[in-house]
Amino acid sequence: MKTAVRGAVLTFQGDPFVIGDDAAVHYHEDSIVRMEDGLIREVRPAGEALGELDAGERLEEYPGGLILPGFIDCHVHYPQTGIIASYGTQLLEWLEKYAFPEEGRFRDPEYAARIAGVYLGECFRNGITSACVFCTVFPQSVDALFAAAEPYAMRLMAGKVLMDRNAPPWLLDTPQKAYDDSKRLIHRRHKTGRFEYVMTPRFALTSSPEQLEVCAALAAEHPDMLIQSHISENPREIDRVRELFPDCADYADVYARYGLMRPRAIYGHGIHMSEREWDLFRETGAAIAHCPNSNLFVGSGCFDIRRSYMDGRAPIRTGLATDIGGGDSFSPLRCMAEAYKVAQLNGYALSPVKAFYLATRGAARALYLDDRVGSLEAGMEADVVILDLFSTPLIRRRMATCESLAEQLFVQMILGDERAVAATYVSGRRVFGGIRPLPEDRAFHE
Ligand code: GUN
Ligand code: ZN
Repeated sequence: MKTAVRGAVLTFQGDPFVIGDDAAVHYHEDSIVRMEDGLIREVRPAGEALGELDAGERLEEYPGGLILPGFIDCHVHYPQTGIIASYGTQLLEWLEKYAFPEEGRFRDPEYAARIAGVYLGECFRNGITSACVFCTVFPQSVDALFAAAEPYAMRLMAGKVLMDRNAPPWLLDTPQKAYDDSKRLIHRRHKTGRFEYVMTPRFALTSSPEQLEVCAALAAEHPDMLIQSHISENPREIDRVRELFPDCADYADVYARYGLMRPRAIYGHGIHMSEREWDLFRETGAAIAHCPNSNLFVGSGCFDIRRSYMDGRAPIRTGLATDIGGGDSFSPLRCMAEAYKVAQLNGYALSPVKAFYLATRGAARALYLDDRVGSLEAGMEADVVILDLFSTPLIRRRMATCESLAEQLFVQMILGDERAVAATYVSGRRVFGGIRPLPEDRAFHE
């Protein structure tokens, strides 16, 4: 299948935290992205490519649109879709009061299938084409998500949550069941099509040392498998981990002792970490999912993105994530806006180019998938989002006074939301939106 999209194109050819914003960005005001059989065939200025389209190649034009790599959500709990916007608690109480009861409902495969469909709809409506997803302790919740994603050939990474203590008994597995269920799911889904299975111990607090031994064994059996968990989100959580693992130097050391700090391991949050813990991330190649909406909504604190990227040493792979349902929005644009404000509270102004990087190629790097997704160039997988840069009257008004690309991007990330998503393509196929006729005066460059 061949489809081509036309509009302004923005992608990344490097890391703006390392080489600077201007050198990292590739931008062209009128280009065509040609997609064929799920891959990007070429990205060329429209003036050159128009005459060369094949017979039968479908061209979808987006005047006033900005073509970007599809957004990548590198940490999200799909089963918490139904409890988004739950009032008034911080992490440990929030889990007890809202997250655990809702996750219990995923014992029912029909409920899981229904929410998986809702979740994917929200992803596509918001321009998210790829995600690294926590399911629940029930293997059927993993099956439901992969089954729902299958028709889209989406690059989806997901795993069964492992948890055998400090949660309601009806939500616990055992070390043996964790192993057996994980192995079964790996056999069924890992590396089938664009899917990957992810080993998913919930966090140190809900896994016994015996279950973490199981994780160590699985990690050793599958050295290139993604691992996802949480680290250092909330002060009470950190105190509890210290009590439960008195022999460990700190929170990150718990994971390190079980072989879970390594390339392709990604941890949500990392807000309150010590110098030693930051060093461990740097030395091991483990990554961080920065979840600013969640950190504000659940009252967890302000992650300092400069610790990942700007301390003069090699960057720690860090991407942006919604962390639904601790997070309060599926929109990567809302996530960039909160990342900006959280950085401001730390005394740092996150540039718009860096924010867009963190939601695309930066997130792909955090998942060690940047050779496949996260940028627009020939050979990459054809996951694309097209923003309507004039999606609301206020944005339209504000865009008229922008004097640079950076300023336009900043307006989009601060004022934009799902209304800004004109279309989403997964594996070269449009899964959301379409060509809306846009008025003449919406040309991006004027
Ligand atoms: N820590 C352990 N589980 C969770 C979860 O579901 N959400 C968040 N935000 N933090 C967690
Ligand atoms: Zn989370």
